[in-house]
Amino acid sequence: MTVDMVLKDGIFIENGRETVRSVAIEASKIEGVYRHGEEPQYLDSIDCRGLYILPGLIDIHVHLRDLKESDKEDYETGTMAAAAGGVTTVVDMPNSNPPVLDKRTLDDKISRAHELSYVNVGFYAGIPHNIDDFDVQMIRNILGLKVYPHSPLDKRTNYTRDRIRECTKLAVASGIPLLFHPDIATQKKEPENIEEFLLAHSCENEVKSVQSFIDAKIEYEARLHVCHVSCAATARLIHKNRAEDTLTAEVTPHHLFLSGGDFPHDDGVAKMLPPLRSPYDNKMLMEALCKTWAIDCVASDHAPHEKWEKAAPFLKAASGIPGLETTLPLMLTEVFEKRLTWIDYLRVCSSAPARILGLETKGILSKGYDADIVLARIQEGTIRGSNFFSKAKITPFEGRRVLARPITTIVGGVVVFDNGEFFTGPGIAGRVPVQKS
Ligand code: DOR
Ligand code: ZN
Ligand code: ZN
Repeated sequence: MTVDMVLKDGIFIENGRETVRSVAIEASKIEGVYRHGEEPQYLDSIDCRGLYILPGLIDIHVHLRDLKESDKEDYETGTMAAAAGGVTTVVDMPNSNPPVLDKRTLDDKISRAHELSYVNVGFYAGIPHNIDDFDVQMIRNILGLKVYPHSPLDKRTNYTRDRIRECTKLAVASGIPLLFHPDIATQKKEPENIEEFLLAHSCENEVKSVQSFIDAKIEYEARLHVCHVSCAATARLIHKNRAEDTLTAEVTPHHLFLSGGDFPHDDGVAKMLPPLRSPYDNKMLMEALCKTWAIDCVASDHAPHEKWEKAAPFLKAASGIPGLETTLPLMLTEVFEKRLTWIDYLRVCSSAPARILGLETKGILSKGYDADIVLARIQEGTIRGSNFFSKAKITPFEGRRVLARPITTIVGGVVVFDNGEFFTGPGIAGRVPVQKS
């Protein structure tokens, strides 16, 4: 047999240990993993000596903007950032402008992404103010329903106990998970100082919000996913209610590695929701990810904003930071500095996010799986926002030392990105929309 491509003699993780293997790709799938000298014939090959052959990251929480917010990011720049960051699948949030509350907006986003993307792109939808207006035709093209209790996509909506129950029921009827941003609405619209802002988005509120969704999840036997857990107390609550695949959770690299005290008080660069917490929370979130398994995976919450929106003082600055180009270097640095095992890395960056969304052919480098692969190497470097392909170049990780660099990104067997350059144009590699297998 002659296969399309062989990734030859790379460092491959087998049973948690580094070994040398070649990976064969045929018709966009992994054909097999081989010992040196046992590879099949091939049309094309890449010499992977010294490079790690890893599954591409699956980032189930990104905001690619586009439509009326293309100044912040569009599907082209957002997915270029993904490919350059070793992320082969992204799932796009519905809080765009306009928000995804109807089929027309979803279809618009899908056709833009179809034309412009460099990686696989999946979608979530929001839930309209009148739940009966939810268009069931959207279901086959979305991977979950997402709600924002503190800042509803339709401003008329109030996330009362009954609303949360209704949303949970809809997710069950649709056969997809309900995802939520754990926070609650506050009485006061605009905080007058930073302390008020932090109080409005406190750990106490995060915990309260998670509890209210867990109550509904239990009542309706739903699949519930908690986005960007930021507090030790939230991780404890999830752990207590953990029921394997019916309650899942993610954490961002910034909530793992940064704390509020790392930044000047009035600095908007590190403003995001949920806010950065304490070093104690950092430590307990890492434990939740690797020891107690209360948290399943890492997701970037890539939330690009324009430069002027981030350069403002804290209260005025926009919430959100870019993350697609920093997750892999940060997480692999944990591996190379021996704070994270290979088994945990592969689970939290690729296989668990695939499992959460039912992407059965993704997240693992094994025969029959999609050939979504990143080749990475050990290389000391410094994070510089000015090097990002994302339109958003202000990062709280600016200047941070990392020990890893993604070199080549392969999406569905197509080499998309190699050594700082794009090999294909937009709309060639990757599936849009990603659908459940
Ligand atoms: O900081 C944030 N930015 N948190 C969110 O939940 C939304 C996001 C955005 O869309 O900018
Ligand atoms: Zn959020
Ligand atoms: Zn988000």
